[in-house]
Amino acid sequence: MSKLAIRGGTPVRNQAWPQWPVHGEAEKKQLLEAFEAGNWGGFPFPQPKTRELGEAFAAYQDASYGAACANGSISLEICLVAAGIVAGDEVIVPATTWIATGAAPIRVNAVPVFVDVDPENYCIDCDAVEAAITPRTRAIIPVHLGSSIADLDRLVEICQKHDLILLEDCAHAHGSKWRRKGVGSWGDFGSFSFQSSKILTSGEGGLITTNDEQLHQKVQSLINCGRKDDGYDTFEGQLLGYNARMTEFQAGVMLAQLARLEELTRKKEENVHYLTHRMAAVGGLYAVRRDVRETRRGIYQFIWKYQAEEFKGLHRDRFLEALEAEGIELDGMFYPPMPFHPLFNARSAEWPMLRERYGDGIQAPETLRKFSFPVGAKFAQEEGIWMHYPYLLAEKADLDDIVSAVAKIKSNVDELL
Ligand SMILES: Cc1ncc(COP(=O)(O)O)c(C=O)c1O
Repeated sequence: MSKLAIRGGTPVRNQAWPQWPVHGEAEKKQLLEAFEAGNWGGFPFPQPKTRELGEAFAAYQDASYGAACANGSISLEICLVAAGIVAGDEVIVPATTWIATGAAPIRVNAVPVFVDVDPENYCIDCDAVEAAITPRTRAIIPVHLGSSIADLDRLVEICQKHDLILLEDCAHAHGSKWRRKGVGSWGDFGSFSFQSSKILTSGEGGLITTNDEQLHQKVQSLINCGRKDDGYDTFEGQLLGYNARMTEFQAGVMLAQLARLEELTRKKEENVHYLTHRMAAVGGLYAVRRDVRETRRGIYQFIWKYQAEEFKGLHRDRFLEALEAEGIELDGMFYPPMPFHPLFNARSAEWPMLRERYGDGIQAPETLRKFSFPVGAKFAQEEGIWMHYPYLLAEKADLDDIVSAVAKIKSNVDELL
């Protein structure tokens, strides 16, 4: 008789996992306060809760200034505009990320230059970054992916050497610290997302950190339709802005969420530590490398490396189906290399600056054929496994179920071959 649930056996687990997002009375109180105050929107900008959030979040990440905004996509674009990136400038981005990282340069008529990721932690490969620099390069957008932090020492050095803007995409890294200093405070800007899947959430939302007062003023102006209001726009001239303001409801929820960050991070770090050790004893699923300089990890999702050889060659996707049947649902291909993502259809007819490097567009067949991201492709197709936040907040006994399920599949893998 089969043992594996996918073949009709009894699943390891059928209880629910912890609820996400974590929320409670504090969020309700904030929402009610915003409701009763009557200043629901974000204008004039910033409203009290939005201002408080900008300041508190920036301080948490060790940055001097913070400006909350509508989401973590527009925030990237606003940073590029504030930095003076213009048509034809090149912006280096990792191939492995959500499409927002590569779409931001396109939307300011710049040219994204995709580079592969590091096989140890799937963050941007700094050697590849150096190799991709040309006289047109103006900025680098590393992504602190999943649970890891890109090599900020190297990136800061590269940016200083070549006079480049460093924009950290911290959409996955609230609370993360590199050498005890918050991410988003190392470069010219940090960009955070509060979209509903993120470490902290107000449904939608974003925030831009910086240590430069002028850049902060520009960012605030850009968020607020280019206004030159007192207090945040002493620079020359006027910018063509956006309405990317956050509402007071979102800012209130985020203030309550921010107060939870310390406790959430502690629990996730503890759980990841426990799981990493238990899983290593089973074999087959290994944690991404943790650099000693990653002194604190916020952990959006935890990334595992699947080693098919240890499951007699079973493909990761088949393993994940079997795991799901055992009551544990994890993700395999979370991010295909970005140029291959179905949503990343950037055509030169609409974005003419792409033509010189990418012909008819990033997804033109002859362009796609030229891309090669062996590490990112292997990660997406064979090796990477993403563990969602609810699992990371579970109790030890629940985590033991995950380990038991993996061990069960491993010892009965013949049923799947
Ligand atoms: C790496 C990365 N950058 C940027 C974003 C964009 O954030 P948002 O969804 O708030 O626009 C996301 C969100 O999914 C992301 O994962």
